[in-house]
Amino acid sequence: MSTTAAELQTEVQRRRTFAIISHPDAGKTTLTEKLLLYGGAIRLAGTVKARKAAKHAVSDWMEIEKQRGISVTSSVLQFDYDCYRVNILDTPGHQDFSEDTYRTLMATDSAVMVIDAAKGVEDQTKKLFYVCRQRGIPIFTFVNKLDRHGKSPFALMEEIENVLAIRAYPMNWPVGVDGNYKGVYNRRLAQIELFESGGAHGQWVMPSTIGSAEDPAFAELLGTDIHNQLIEDIELLDMAGDPFDIEKVRQGELTPMFFGSALTNFGVRPFLEEFLQLAPPPLARRSVDGMVAPDDEGFTAFVFKIQANMNPTHRDRIAFIRICSGKFVRGMSVKHVPSGKIVKLAQPQQFMAQERMIIDEAYPGDVIGLFDPGLFGIGDTLCAEGKNFQFEDFPVFPPEHFARVQPKDTMKRKQFVKGMTQLTQEGAVQVFRQPEIGVESFIVGAVGVLQMEVLEYRLKQEYGVDILVQHLPFSVARWLEGYDPGKPVKGLDSGMVIRDGKERPVALFRNEWSVRWAVEQNPQIKFLTVPER
Ligand code: G4P
Repeated sequence: MSTTAAELQTEVQRRRTFAIISHPDAGKTTLTEKLLLYGGAIRLAGTVKARKAAKHAVSDWMEIEKQRGISVTSSVLQFDYDCYRVNILDTPGHQDFSEDTYRTLMATDSAVMVIDAAKGVEDQTKKLFYVCRQRGIPIFTFVNKLDRHGKSPFALMEEIENVLAIRAYPMNWPVGVDGNYKGVYNRRLAQIELFESGGAHGQWVMPSTIGSAEDPAFAELLGTDIHNQLIEDIELLDMAGDPFDIEKVRQGELTPMFFGSALTNFGVRPFLEEFLQLAPPPLARRSVDGMVAPDDEGFTAFVFKIQANMNPTHRDRIAFIRICSGKFVRGMSVKHVPSGKIVKLAQPQQFMAQERMIIDEAYPGDVIGLFDPGLFGIGDTLCAEGKNFQFEDFPVFPPEHFARVQPKDTMKRKQFVKGMTQLTQEGAVQVFRQPEIGVESFIVGAVGVLQMEVLEYRLKQEYGVDILVQHLPFSVARWLEGYDPGKPVKGLDSGMVIRDGKERPVALFRNEWSVRWAVEQNPQIKFLTVPER
């Protein structure tokens, strides 16, 4: 093996690229921050949160976007821990829930699902979980807020298994009583780790005491009742629970479960260490010609996110690419496959916690930002010159919000169409056409409601077009297979059939109930949640 091949393999093996998914308020931001704290990437917790706080309202979002770079820097956070190079991909998952959130999951190798111990599995977690499951990536669970009252650990396990249809394997188990847990029991090492009070919202790395579960000192520290209860719980888990099987974890059939509190830091370090050991290094990727291994020496990458700069005078955009194989070197020329153009990647950016910097080299699993001259689209493949190669199409995510949009001033049609075309290419919204209406207005679909407001704002700011937005009362789209435009879809009373960007017919429905009704009435038509690739 050549030195470069060996170096490539070593770099691939030490990388861990993952996203943290959760329902708003479960603690994703806090956990991200604590991982950075333990990774030594920040000295004091509180900085990431401060940024998030300002991100809540739409108007704030716009202000922030205007100030160059802030949301850009939050797109990926990189740090080293032990021998690992860790890349945390930020999934905007709050009020700004959008297709970006889903697309980011296309670029990860595993996911950490944060669950609020009191609330259990919530809606947004479910949606994100299913996208991860479709990709077959490993999902790790961090049950958060153990410093407060919550559901029992057994009830949470059962809930995960029943609601998400995945088996759960607790890697550790909370020690203490509900509302006053003191630490965690590590099942692999048969060790108890007790944490001192985090103080000051766990701004600092927290000291802990580790020892064998059998150690009588723990019975004394915890009280005999609590200690006995722990031993009983562990016996029950060992006897009645699923065995640990790393293959099942890798295939997304078993989720290793951890307990802790991101706020007070308890359980954070044990989680991080175990997670890094179990999480996979960069995975092989599917291309139209088969799988591409990360240690393949030819460079390949794909665009998974485009971030526009809101500054109207410099309309620069940043395309985020995930490297899939080969080594990236600054200044290298690569082929942008959809256009066939050769582009020189002269100023690749990388992000270390809050700073962004120009980087000289990067490896599979890493994410870098490229200045986009308006060339890149979501899902585009980049590869070494001379290669002829393409990753599989990016999936389309089912939109849940629909609106009809048109320019207020018909004289602005040209700018309107230009803006809509560019924003669609950037993946800001999905655009549909209603055949009988033509191109006076478009129907736009979005995963998150905020995307509509951002569209309106950006068309005005960047293209000078005021638009009329008429929200439509639909929440479900189904792509139709076997549809004959000459024959109406039966039972679609209040729905409509429109065309997507590739002219595929799509029916819009008010709710799942009306979908079921139409499915029954039209056995000759297939109603697909996402278009066939
Ligand atoms: P998110 O990114 O998933 O939306 O959640 P985030 O981390 O912002 O946390 C949401 C709220 O939950 C925050 O409270 C945060 O402090 C709190 N939280 C996170 N982890 C824990 C935990 O382990 N225990 C407890 N008790 N609370 C936790 P907030 O009131 O919205 O903000 P703040 O006033 O604390 O800053």
